[in-house]
Amino acid sequence: MNPGAGACRQVHIETFGCQMNEYDSELVRALLTREGYIVTEDRERADVILMNTCAIRENAHTKVYTHLSDLKVLKKTRPLVVGVLGCMAQNLKEELTKQEPLVDLLAGPDSYRQLPLLISRAIDAQEQGQHVKALAVDLSEYETYDDIVPARLPGVNAWIAVMRGCDNFCSFCVVPYTRGRERSRGPQGILDEAARIAGEGFKQVTLLGQNVNSYRSGDWDFARLLIAVAEVPGIERVRFTSPHPKDFPPALLEAVAWHPKICKHIHLPAQSGNDRILGMMNRTYTRRDYSALVDRIHSMNPSIALTTDIIAGFCSETEDEFDDTYRLLEEVRYHSAFIFLYSERTNTIAARKFTDDIPPEVKSRRVTALVELQRRISIERNREYLGQTLPVLVEGDAKKSDLQAMGKSDANITVIWNKTDGPWCPGDVVACSIYDASASTLYAKAIAGTEDSRAKSEHSCTNIVQS
Ligand code: 5AD
Ligand code: SF4
Repeated sequence: MNPGAGACRQVHIETFGCQMNEYDSELVRALLTREGYIVTEDRERADVILMNTCAIRENAHTKVYTHLSDLKVLKKTRPLVVGVLGCMAQNLKEELTKQEPLVDLLAGPDSYRQLPLLISRAIDAQEQGQHVKALAVDLSEYETYDDIVPARLPGVNAWIAVMRGCDNFCSFCVVPYTRGRERSRGPQGILDEAARIAGEGFKQVTLLGQNVNSYRSGDWDFARLLIAVAEVPGIERVRFTSPHPKDFPPALLEAVAWHPKICKHIHLPAQSGNDRILGMMNRTYTRRDYSALVDRIHSMNPSIALTTDIIAGFCSETEDEFDDTYRLLEEVRYHSAFIFLYSERTNTIAARKFTDDIPPEVKSRRVTALVELQRRISIERNREYLGQTLPVLVEGDAKKSDLQAMGKSDANITVIWNKTDGPWCPGDVVACSIYDASASTLYAKAIAGTEDSRAKSEHSCTNIVQS
């Protein structure tokens, strides 16, 4: 190992927020390991604790502050360097440097290459009894970390970030300010990474980007990239998140509808079902455009499951406008939905132009109404699978019982079965006969694996382990 700047210091990384943050933590792990740092799961033994943060909603933000106050206690007991990475570092640099003496270093999402240096400076200063704040928060138009191989933990799914940043400037959203302008990686680096991942035994790849379907590199668009990744030998399933409804050309819809390795699931954030609110949000589509896209998807392949993101209680949203969103959920009948209460974020267009005037109790009532509606629809949707046999990619033990195993259907729905049904390993594809359904889970009898998984399970993996 390269002793480097790290000289075997132990670093603990805690990740908050989205999948892109999980991926970024894998990049950070790789960047630090190659400089001689040891990345540890044990926070009590760490010399350095890094928090990779999310600023997208108020509650993510609050969670990080709560966590910082825990670290304050820890820091009193021993020498410790505390760093804030990611979107909060970018967005709240003044607040975090001036008001939070606890924080020793800040690195925004485009500055991770500087981390080894920032950490060693902070450690040196601390050893000399000084307190310096090491800061790297410049946004880049080019940084894609294309040459860094993320240090992935073993599992079934590997993420690949294909683009970073966002140029959409939805009025409620802080991402364009924290993650900067849109930029895409070249296709060859992505395909090489997919091939390497397949060689390491990952069965599923999820292509990531803040606005993933606006991917473009030369004459490669997202549809071409998605198909090329799906053709990489050894990759069984390809997913992608998060797309924007404005970027679904026919070639992309056809790829999702027909390619056997591209999963039959599209996350299609609607945010609202009302045109005036969609306009204020700067979403660039109308309710009619959105519904037409949903119809196109369902007419091409009705088995494609749709999920969405909704914001309730956006600035000036009336009861009638909220009802339009309620009716959108009834009309589309998503398989599931993430429903958020609007929270104003510093610096966004909405924070500058509109008043956050919906009382908290009204926002909560609207969120509750949508959550209850969606729960009923999710149960009905999941009950449509009763009696069907679905191919399920095994992930590991079920969360609630290690006597049960879990995996995901092609449509990304959690499936659970008793391990006594068979000795399948994470990464196997198992045929599951569905006999019961809740809003979030399908219950199944696992009846057969693929040829490959059957051959493998004869020699190994009699116990399914958590992946
Ligand atoms: N308030 C509430 N929800 C938000 N989201 C993004 N910004 C906000 C905000 N200010 C939600 C959107 C987005 C998801 C990732 O987070 O629904 O699609
Ligand atoms: Fe935010 Fe809109 Fe970009 Fe999504 S598309 S990251 S909601 S600005």
